[in-house]
Amino acid sequence: MMSSDHQKRLGTSRRRFLGQALTAAGTAIVAPKVLDGANPAEAQPSIDRHTLIRGETPVMLTINGQRQTVNIEPRVTLLDVLRERLALTGTKKGCDQGQCGACTVLVDGERIYSCLALAIMQEGRQITTIEGLANGDRLHPVQTAFIENDGFQCGYCTSGQICATVALLKEVQRGCASAVTPDLTRSPQLATLSAAEIQERLSGNLCRCSAYNGIVAAVQQVAGQTPPSPAATILVQEGAE
Ligand code: FES
Ligand code: FES
Repeated sequence: MMSSDHQKRLGTSRRRFLGQALTAAGTAIVAPKVLDGANPAEAQPSIDRHTLIRGETPVMLTINGQRQTVNIEPRVTLLDVLRERLALTGTKKGCDQGQCGACTVLVDGERIYSCLALAIMQEGRQITTIEGLANGDRLHPVQTAFIENDGFQCGYCTSGQICATVALLKEVQRGCASAVTPDLTRSPQLATLSAAEIQERLSGNLCRCSAYNGIVAAVQQVAGQTPPSPAATILVQEGAE
């Protein structure tokens, strides 16, 4: 039987390890240095060095505040442009057919599956990926909540879960109902959003590690609630000590 001191040390070091692993492994919880201190509006658009070949067309995309031109065929998805052409590999490819949510990004603040979106149709829109959520070295509150509540294990689904959660919070603030909103005559409130509602609103993002309890706890924390999971509550209390 482990002493409670030993258990605390294990919990703390595991959280620290997971945070470091996510950053180092490219899940990109922290924004790349290229964004540090840059004024996106003044940034020069980067030009695709890839030579324009037959069937391709130049497409200008605004990603994490930076304008980038890529030469692509009109059939190329946003996911493939992000990962294969722009090295923004924080956005993950799971099913590549709109079933898992690993590729979720924000377009004009709304969540989409980037594997189902043609890149050429995103011109003139603001695309935000997991790399664009943090402000320099300061994590987005949703990223912090996922770390503090163990909202992941392998981390493969995590960037999609985090982007979906950022959109979820805004949807609730706009008064958008879900399929399980109990009273459609009143706007849902973050403070009273139930676990069932959070699960429903994130049902488009699957987690093969089944880190769902931690994910719900993370959303509840960032919504201003007390995380419901006993395990998550213990970890949050440890973090405050
Ligand atoms: S990779 Fe896009 S939904 Fe699975
Ligand atoms: S943390 Fe592994 S798939 Fe979700």
